[in-house]
Amino acid sequence: MKDSRGRVIDYMRVSVTNKCSMRCRYCISDNSKYDNNILSFDEITEICTVGAELGINKIKITGGEPLSREGTVRLISRIKAIKGIDSVTLTTNGLLLEKYAEEIYRAGTDSVNISLDSLDREKYKYITGCDSLDIVLRGIDKLYSYGIPIKINTVLMKGINDDMDTIELARDRHIDVRFIEMMPIGGGRNFGPILKNRLPNGRRLAERGNGPAVYYAVDGFKGRIGLISPVSAKFCSECNRIRLTVDGFLKGCLCYADGVDIKNEGDIKAAFERVIKNKPNEHCFENRDNITEKKDMNEIGG
Ligand code: GTP
Ligand code: 5AD
Ligand code: SF4
Repeated sequence: MKDSRGRVIDYMRVSVTNKCSMRCRYCISDNSKYDNNILSFDEITEICTVGAELGINKIKITGGEPLSREGTVRLISRIKAIKGIDSVTLTTNGLLLEKYAEEIYRAGTDSVNISLDSLDREKYKYITGCDSLDIVLRGIDKLYSYGIPIKINTVLMKGINDDMDTIELARDRHIDVRFIEMMPIGGGRNFGPILKNRLPNGRRLAERGNGPAVYYAVDGFKGRIGLISPVSAKFCSECNRIRLTVDGFLKGCLCYADGVDIKNEGDIKAAFERVIKNKPNEHCFENRDNITEKKDMNEIGG
């Protein structure tokens, strides 16, 4: 389906939980709320099926931490089986990857994005509140052994991880590392955006993924280096997505609270049509007073 700006909406981010085992400073604030009135996997599958009939062909499973909800990987298989769905991807903090890598592979997951902000154990612990760098690195190794495409997400924080050491993960393996500009949502309101471009001999690649990243090939690195710059290089004119929160709220944009409560609406198709028709033209991160989304990133689904 096209929105009123003529953008083709073919990607839905589906949050399966707002709970998370980590506490990344840029994501969760002290007043994060956890909803118990969550969609069942049957309801999520039904919503994805209707979305697919309306032209959604890519689903991102996100959270909170999606693997912390029992059965998430089985949900991936179910969504993969929906007619019209071409790709199902997962974004995770990596903590449970070692446990689920094989299942994720068998479910046919098309790619996995892993949040990892530093390779320095103390910094990692400071950022996430969790002393789990080694566990996450082991999970990445295991997943890589199955040949699933992997992307690392590093959200840059001035003076904390702006040495961009996670770039090393792309040196010897075909793993993409993306540096992400901080957005003033959730815990991100307490930080400013920085995106340092100190890529050695970077050559911009024409191809794009499903989303906002711009990729570079860097001499000496097997993986690609990506930059996601929602603030300094707005990509809203190419936005292809809507979001489904875990409590059944369908949203047109990360930045605004507007959307439709599918449970109240009853008619799922009508909910999609209304949200896509009313999808905001662009975010207003440059003008913080106009941001109406007050929830944290874990509640919105990244
Ligand atoms: P793929 O590359 O298709 O796997 O997806 P992705 O990069 O969109 O997903 P991921 O969950 O890894 O998110 C990467 C970063 O992009 C996170 O910081 C998200 O918050 C951000 N992001 C994802 N979608 C949007 C969007 O529509 N608008 C903005 N401003 N940021 C987004
Ligand atoms: N700004 C930018 N990215 C963020 N993420 C979480 N909070 C923010 C923020 N305030 C990213 C995480 C995760 C992805 C889903 O969203 O790094 O990988
Ligand atoms: Fe959890 Fe992801 Fe937020 Fe980190 S960024 S606290 S892993 S939801």
